[in-house]
Amino acid sequence: MKFGAPSKHRTHGNFRIHPRFKRSFVRQYNPPTMPYAGLINRYRDFLTNLPNAAAPITLHEGNTPLIPLPRLSAELGADVRAKFEGLNPTGSFKDRGMTVAMTASVAAGAKACICASTGNTAASAAAYAARAGIACYVLIPEGKVATGKLAGAVAYGAAVIQVQGSFDEALALVREISQKRPIALVNSVNPHRLEGQKTAAFELVDALGRAPDWLCLPVGNAGNITAYWKGFVEYHLAGRTESLPQLLGVQAEGAAPLVLGHAVDKPETVATAIRIGRPARGEEALHAAEESDGRIIAVSDTEILAMQQRLAGEGVWCEPASAAGAAGLLKEVHAGRLDVRGKTIVCVVTGHGLKDPDSITSRFAPPQVIPASMEALERLIGS
Ligand code: F0G
Repeated sequence: MKFGAPSKHRTHGNFRIHPRFKRSFVRQYNPPTMPYAGLINRYRDFLTNLPNAAAPITLHEGNTPLIPLPRLSAELGADVRAKFEGLNPTGSFKDRGMTVAMTASVAAGAKACICASTGNTAASAAAYAARAGIACYVLIPEGKVATGKLAGAVAYGAAVIQVQGSFDEALALVREISQKRPIALVNSVNPHRLEGQKTAAFELVDALGRAPDWLCLPVGNAGNITAYWKGFVEYHLAGRTESLPQLLGVQAEGAAPLVLGHAVDKPETVATAIRIGRPARGEEALHAAEESDGRIIAVSDTEILAMQQRLAGEGVWCEPASAAGAAGLLKEVHAGRLDVRGKTIVCVVTGHGLKDPDSITSRFAPPQVIPASMEALERLIGS
């Protein structure tokens, strides 16, 4: 048939489909029957205490990819994958907890919310509050929040308040004011946050058909490790997975209260997201690690930054804290404390590299400059 000739075939606007191609066209371009609509929509039956009538405040968070890490896998003789939580709507896993916390708060009539944050919770709370149309106050430690997180909180329209103190001090303040005023507290001390975050464990089981052998993740305020364990245990009890993972929680050496066994008054680490000295859910995190037959360890800033670079070398760029889980895995294997050969390991990569670009740019020389000439380019690239 000549192109442009009149046709008796069905048309979509000006686009004519030859019958021979119609089947594959339809199969390729028809939207799936159940488009993904966020984790409340997918896992509502498992979300304890979320009122049935509550309309989801969602940015279609969750459903993040489980990306194989072939080079790390080859080195460790294991199947190592990254659960890339940096691909959530605001660039971190916090969105999982925030969709549920915000949905429950708004359903209960909240007109304002508040949180303390090392940055990611702030950006996430700001986005979901904007979506809900309520006010949002975020308290952050002065000068210790990565650029991408601060910019996010501002962009989404939150009132950003810098506190001359640590995250722990900011958390004490917001806990107190949320008792005094009708402002919803959306830190992970809010149980709805854990409900949302536990869905990442569901996704892992749904993707792998079972729990991984080890789950490695950074630990700061200790909400996430607590939520994962809750998720795995609940899925196990619901008959969705026979096995449970062993948990490897990883803190930064300068902010490792759960490893030291006491609070750290002046936590310090390049991984500002986990620069926390008094984790609100520390007891639960220790319990989860123990019950899983796992442990909580600490890694140095050097180990964290080296792993950040390694992950980026496999195409997964994350902020420093997010590399802690994998850094801890490597450390334990190299020290002979962990034999992972033949095992399936998931490293939770909690936040995107774009959150903290300075962690890269401050360590590398600026890219070289050449004149806009082919000669200069060829000289540089070589033969
Ligand atoms: N990774 C990133 C990127 C984080 O932002 C956090 C916590 C963690 C790991 C640790 O998770 O606190 O549940 O143990 N960030 C919080 C915040 C404290 O304010 O954004 P956790």
